Amino acid sequence: MIRRIEKTDSALLSSARKDFPDCWSKEMIDSAFEGGRFFGYLYKDGEGFAFISYSLSVDTADIEDLFVSPSLRGKGIAKELLTAAIKDVREQGRTIVFLEVRTDNIPAINLYTSFGFEKISVRKKYYADGDAFVLKKEI
Ligand SMILES: CC(C)(COP(=O)(O)OP(=O)(O)OC[C@H]1O[C@@H](n2cnc3c(N)ncnc32)[C@H](O)[C@@H]1OP(=O)(O)O)[C@@H](O)C(=O)NCCC(=O)NCCS
Repeated sequence: MIRRIEKTDSALLSSARKDFPDCWSKEMIDSAFEGGRFFGYLYKDGEGFAFISYSLSVDTADIEDLFVSPSLRGKGIAKELLTAAIKDVREQGRTIVFLEVRTDNIPAINLYTSFGFEKISVRKKYYADGDAFVLKKEI
């Protein structure tokens, strides 16, 4: 069962940094919530948690983080979160979704391309230690 993320989830969400160092810090998440255009969905059970977060701009959305605890991977949870996020973005009237993904992150690239995201460019040194593909999907 998934539910929307809330401001009070920021400590939990940022704890993903232990397994996923690219994840936003608590300060970044708190500040994004203050901006009022930050949304997402959370899945939680006894073993761990998973979430997706995204920001809306005038007519586009940016997926910021997508994380599934290692013990919960391979069960379709990321697919469920991404499906919910895309539905919400569409319902909020945005028609284009962007995201950055490490060029060597095969599981995530497979997931996004299976949803119809397309590579539109490479951002060299987007991460301190690596490059990113920019992916785009029209919804
Ligand atoms: C990427 C990630 C979110 C996938 O989560 P998940 O819940 O295991 O993914 P799902 O079970 O929903 O799988 C969905 C699809 O992703 C792809 N995928 C997932 N794990 C994969 C793996 N180990 N190898 C290759 N493809 C994989 C497949 O296309 C899969 O579809 P399929 O099962 O029909 O083949 C998870 O591995 C994760 O949290 N990684 C660390 C954080 C991260 O890299 N986030 C993305 C940042 S842009």
